[in-house]
Amino acid sequence: MFVWRMADLLIRKPDDWHIHLRDGAALKLTVPQAARQFGRVIAMPNLRPPVDSIEAARDYRTRILDAVPSEYRNRFHPITPLYLTDRITPSVIEEAVKTDYIKAVKLYPAGATTNSESGVADLAPFYDVFEAMQKHRMPLLIHGEVTDMQVDVFDRERVFVERQLHPLRERFPELPMVLEHVSSKEGVRFVEIHERHTAATITVRHMLLTRNDIFQGGLQPHHFCLPVVKTEEDRQAVRAAAFSGKPCFFAGTDSAPHARHKKESACGSAGIYTAHAAVELYAEIFDEEGMLDRLEAFLSEYGARFYGLELGQEKVCLVRTPWTVPDSYDMGGDELIPFRAGRSVSFRLEEDR
Ligand code: DOR
Ligand code: ZN
Repeated sequence: MFVWRMADLLIRKPDDWHIHLRDGAALKLTVPQAARQFGRVIAMPNLRPPVDSIEAARDYRTRILDAVPSEYRNRFHPITPLYLTDRITPSVIEEAVKTDYIKAVKLYPAGATTNSESGVADLAPFYDVFEAMQKHRMPLLIHGEVTDMQVDVFDRERVFVERQLHPLRERFPELPMVLEHVSSKEGVRFVEIHERHTAATITVRHMLLTRNDIFQGGLQPHHFCLPVVKTEEDRQAVRAAAFSGKPCFFAGTDSAPHARHKKESACGSAGIYTAHAAVELYAEIFDEEGMLDRLEAFLSEYGARFYGLELGQEKVCLVRTPWTVPDSYDMGGDELIPFRAGRSVSFRLEEDR
């Protein structure tokens, strides 16, 4: 049993409502690290091929569970939502709601991000799917960026909100929607206006970085992700949302591993890996802002409530002890550079068992 001190923080074990665990050899790194931090995760379906059938979701969940280390067996619960492609029909939704592991459908605009080629070019052909989801209160998880090359990359979330989200909300007033990794003040505002059936996940990186960090002292590929980090005003809006205590804003790391050679390349991949220290980093941010009393609900309660799930029962302890993040991790023989590599984090997560 871990002995904790008054200065430490004992909280319900967090959930991650948006993570990329990948597949194959990568699972050997991502799953143990995620299982240490989180009791439950939404494992995003942007694999190749995409997870766009009940069978694919079931099999992916099995592969994730096979990678869970023995100490976390039966204590780590992956949810594997469906990737919205033209294979998803209202009858697939009827089947999906009978499972206890699908829970949602993920909308990727085609070409918006990593492995989104199978995504959606136009929403109208999916209205009958959204109708079925609305009927069953199944959330639509949204990568909210337009792919229009005429639109500046820093404006793509704002324009998506205007062109796609407002009309979708009007057409399906009770469809639960999550604006994933909200990154702009307009995205935050949209969620606040429609908070009854709308939520947003918030990442560590959108709370910590601005676009200056992508170019600081030279191009920083390990600060490149999508949606791209934006202005200081946007960062402040995202932070205020996370600290607001509003149940429509909860944690989703979007931890996204890419091998070092794919990031440090002439055409670098989008994604930042945070699963090694996500809870500690959120704690550090909330602590610096004097908001630690709002941390547990943000990490461990609001998301579960939105999804209509029970709260987790385990506890973890956040100990005020600095530790240094490794320079890299091994990911199936490739090097992976984690967020904060080689630098210090001020909290350490311990189990309370
Ligand atoms: O930065 C990102 N990486 N954004 C995404 O939407 C996808 C993710 C990935 O899968 O690497
Ligand atoms: Zn993601």
